[in-house]
Amino acid sequence: MPATKHLFKSAILLFGCISIPVDARTVTSDQRKADQDASDASEQRATALVAQMTDAEKLVYIQGYLPRRSKDRPADMIPSAGYVPGVPRLGIPNLRESDASLGVANQLEQRKGDVATALPATLSLAASFDPDLAYRSGAMIGAEARAKTFNVLLAGGVNLTRDPWGGRAFEYFGEDPLLTGIMGGASIRGVQSNAIVSTVKHYVLNPQETLRTTSDARIGEAALRESDLLAFQLAIELGQPGSVMCSYNKVNTDWACENDFLLNQVLKRDWGYKGWVMSDWGAVHSTVKAINAGLDQESGRELDKVIYFGAPLAAALADGSIQQSRLADMNRRILWGVSVTGLIDHPVPAAAQSIDYAEHAKVAQEAAEKGMVLLKNEGDMLPLARTAKSILVIGAHADRGVLSGGGASQVRSVGGVPVEIPLTEGSAASISRMTWHASSPLAAIQALAPGAKVTFVDGRDVAATVAAAQRSDVAIVFGWQWRTEKQDIETLSLPDQQDVMIAAVAAANPRTAVVLQTGGPVLMPWLDKVPAVIEAWYPGQKGGEAIANVLFGTVNPSGRLPMTFPASEAQAPRPVIPGLTAMKAAEAANNAGGADGMKSSPPATVIEYREGADVGYRGYLKRGVRPLFPFGYGLSYTRFRYAALRVTAGSHPSISFEVKNIGTIAGADSPQVYAQAGRRDGGSLRLVGFHRVMLAPGEAKRVSVTVDPRLLADYDVAARGWHVAAGRYPILVGRFAGDAELNGELAMADVRLAP
Ligand code: BGC
Repeated sequence: MPATKHLFKSAILLFGCISIPVDARTVTSDQRKADQDASDASEQRATALVAQMTDAEKLVYIQGYLPRRSKDRPADMIPSAGYVPGVPRLGIPNLRESDASLGVANQLEQRKGDVATALPATLSLAASFDPDLAYRSGAMIGAEARAKTFNVLLAGGVNLTRDPWGGRAFEYFGEDPLLTGIMGGASIRGVQSNAIVSTVKHYVLNPQETLRTTSDARIGEAALRESDLLAFQLAIELGQPGSVMCSYNKVNTDWACENDFLLNQVLKRDWGYKGWVMSDWGAVHSTVKAINAGLDQESGRELDKVIYFGAPLAAALADGSIQQSRLADMNRRILWGVSVTGLIDHPVPAAAQSIDYAEHAKVAQEAAEKGMVLLKNEGDMLPLARTAKSILVIGAHADRGVLSGGGASQVRSVGGVPVEIPLTEGSAASISRMTWHASSPLAAIQALAPGAKVTFVDGRDVAATVAAAQRSDVAIVFGWQWRTEKQDIETLSLPDQQDVMIAAVAAANPRTAVVLQTGGPVLMPWLDKVPAVIEAWYPGQKGGEAIANVLFGTVNPSGRLPMTFPASEAQAPRPVIPGLTAMKAAEAANNAGGADGMKSSPPATVIEYREGADVGYRGYLKRGVRPLFPFGYGLSYTRFRYAALRVTAGSHPSISFEVKNIGTIAGADSPQVYAQAGRRDGGSLRLVGFHRVMLAPGEAKRVSVTVDPRLLADYDVAARGWHVAAGRYPILVGRFAGDAELNGELAMADVRLAP
């Protein structure tokens, strides 16, 4: 057993509260029972604690300080996302919050010199289709957080990527509710295996950064339940997060953080969620409405217009517009999360502990390697022969490091930051800098090809780059596209004339490979001219080594796209980013310093999610639009064959088939099971199962997936629940959405399920 696995196993044994069968894709009945028992015990404990809290204490635990803006600073408050003072006399811990989507974050180096292990983008983790890896990644982040004395992690981003330009697409698990729910849930469970709390965020329908704090996301209830809400529902069932973070935007006219339907009705009533709802930072707009709608804690209170959960809450309790019982409930919910994760019995250390970064780096490298997607490999150009005499590496600071995404998730990585570029304009300037992790692809390539002359050019001078490419046996172009929280990308084209440069290099040297570091889909106008393309995402602090390993075949690529790559911007469900023009106009007016000195703000933007539940590939297939690369797509240096499909009907149908490695080298495959399901609007093709499997050459294994019947169902709003209509459902086993290597049919009886 590898050491990392052992390390995390011992963490699980130590805290003993949350565990996951390493191969879990769904919650087993034993696990559900264990979760239920832990939940019941935690509820009793939380109730008993609340009964001992004074009113004043109850009014404190529901407000989060923003350390960098906070005037009264408790002695142990350190710069990070948030802090909530506990009640020492009752053993109620201070809540020490840090962002942690890709590692323990340290945006803008607010804690000087505090480094952490930087994982690849969440999209890369999703591309691994490996829930065990998601669990171990989360466990690693949680272990570092605990050692750094953080006990509430703002992790678990499970928003579906509805648009190709989402600024935070790299922080999410892509466009499919099942993949997102399973991978997100496993990662949350991993974080919490360290007896600390993880959130799941941002609840809900918050795929767009442009005007995220003012826009109103509109969608019908059934469509929402079958898509974005389903991703949260699955992630919550599997991950059992202590907290849910509500998002900035409105959903169907009400702010997400004061939305009775989303918080009280769906989350707490229908799903029986016992933990607490914390707001996103600056997402609270009221006291009485928010609290009565189900918001339990105001985060980053200094960011709100007034501290809504401060004096106004005391006044609302006094005049009866908020009941004392609700204040008790808010505290009980927080304490449920603190208790069910084991945090209450295993407080984080008072001072930072040492961390085995070398061990953790292995997880970062494994995640990068498993997430890379081989998109094209004409004539088997890859893997590269180690006998190449001269290799030219081009662009993206590949001599020094690998790119990362910006915003709350930004980790200051262990190896350091060789390149950091401040932003001069745009909404994200205040929170992000373009940051490279020190992991040089150039050095890693040289290490694997010791006999070759490996040189670097930055690619800016196209003529000089072309001349250098002509002199080399092989050219490897590093394409990049940076994304950050707070702004969407405005075009899917690679910036800085990279397309021109790539086309020119490919014309000059037929042995050209492109390695993309992007936080989502990009256009590839040069694709026909380039024999090999790898999507490396933001590959994290061991990205350079991982890229070299994939290029030379030390690692056989196995990633699969968790998002559709459109062939043109016009193919996107919303070809223009809603509100972008208005936002730019307002920014321009403000920069020009309007004559009356007034700040101009963009009009409130309504975003109609007309595609409904047909997010990503479902919509592309329904519209008959052929993308550049479909969801689920990815090649390998070997080949796999599927055979002998078996479909077993029942309340939890099971589908099994044989996967055989018919090539000459070992490799992992992630065959996907799709169903044509749902009856409303003709239904849609839906991923209902996947199974990553490693196979030696010639080896065959039978893999099996169990289908969650909700994935076959329509949500019936009138009847308040899921409905699987009786009938026969086509089953397709394939390599990507729309592929059908094997065909079958699943017969279902009429089934009604709770919401
Ligand atoms: C982001 C959250 C983050 C929070 C605290 C917000 O702007 O949307 O994802 O957890 O800040 O840093």
